[in-house]
Amino acid sequence: MLTDFLDSVRSFALSRVLMTAIELDVFRQLDERPLSKADLRKRTGIKEGPISDAFIDVLVAFKILNGNGDKLELSETGRSILPAYESIRSWAREMQLFYDSLCDLTGLVKSGDYKDSILSDYWIYKKSRDPKKLQASEVNDYSSLMDASQMQLSHAIMDHHDFSGYAHIIDFGGGYGRLAIALAEKYPGLRITIADLPAVCEKTRALVDAEGLGGRIDLLPVDFFRDPLPVGVADAIVFVRVLHDWDGDETANLLAKTRSCLCKDGTALVIEPMNDDSEQPTRSSALTSLMITLFGGKRRSMQEYAAFLRSVGYTDLSWSDCGLSLYRIVAARSRADSV
Ligand SMILES: C[S@@+](CC[C@H](N)C(=O)[O-])C[C@H]1O[C@@H](n2cnc3c(N)ncnc32)[C@H](O)[C@@H]1O
Repeated sequence: MLTDFLDSVRSFALSRVLMTAIELDVFRQLDERPLSKADLRKRTGIKEGPISDAFIDVLVAFKILNGNGDKLELSETGRSILPAYESIRSWAREMQLFYDSLCDLTGLVKSGDYKDSILSDYWIYKKSRDPKKLQASEVNDYSSLMDASQMQLSHAIMDHHDFSGYAHIIDFGGGYGRLAIALAEKYPGLRITIADLPAVCEKTRALVDAEGLGGRIDLLPVDFFRDPLPVGVADAIVFVRVLHDWDGDETANLLAKTRSCLCKDGTALVIEPMNDDSEQPTRSSALTSLMITLFGGKRRSMQEYAAFLRSVGYTDLSWSDCGLSLYRIVAARSRADSV
């Protein structure tokens, strides 16, 4: 037991070693064939010496690499990240900021003043007084991070929710538009509007046009909290990994405001990793909660989202898994008689 505890305390060092291995591209260098230590050092720009030996030894000790004499190769665990490598590389950058934000966790928990972390500099819309004034260069880091995993997520969403009954969907905070593009390709009769900040929409418009989908995917450059939104125009509105950014009041306000975009009997879909109140949060979920809290958001449960939706007038609540880790879809109907 004590050893487990001590290992857990020390595991920050393993985390740092893994992030460095990703940053230096160790995994891709070893993808095709085993390399000698000297070749791996050369290919990753690591200088020979005690620190690089100790770094490689940790990767071997934790079975990320197999060491066979002087040859190093990826273990099964090391190989498992390759199919999602780009997404994991982007995610590792976010983990680095999380790591930096936790440097003074003692100070944060003692002061209770946690929202001004390094992470909230990264999610720049959280800090900006006027997010509509952000420039494309300022939103590109976080938008690219989300974009790297959006394709895989979009396919999981389409596999687990039938969009064939909708004519017009608004994707609130749709980022660089992978979901919209995937939906437009699968459902030829569907129109999609992506509502996001002007600086994000700039690049999304170019990506959508490059796919030849400019006629079916519209861009709505708005601050969804402060700007007027179109009324009664969509039969579904979607929030993918958007609501966990915001505190309870902001989430309720956004859900209440955007409900007016729906036509009679329209549907709202909330999609993101969610807990289930009937189960203990997993370790990974608890750690992600810590991260999201650091920039003023919240990891919620399906039941909490259902309660939010009900509180702003939605009915017919249901939820389902999305087939991807803890991603879940909470769906609700906006009946005309409950508006
Ligand atoms: C975490 S990202 C999710 C992006 C995308 N849905 C996905 O899952 O990859 C949140 C999105 O909300 C957008 N956003 C944040 N604040 C906004 C605001 N006030 N008005 C409009 N969009 C906003 C961001 O620009 C970003 O694209």
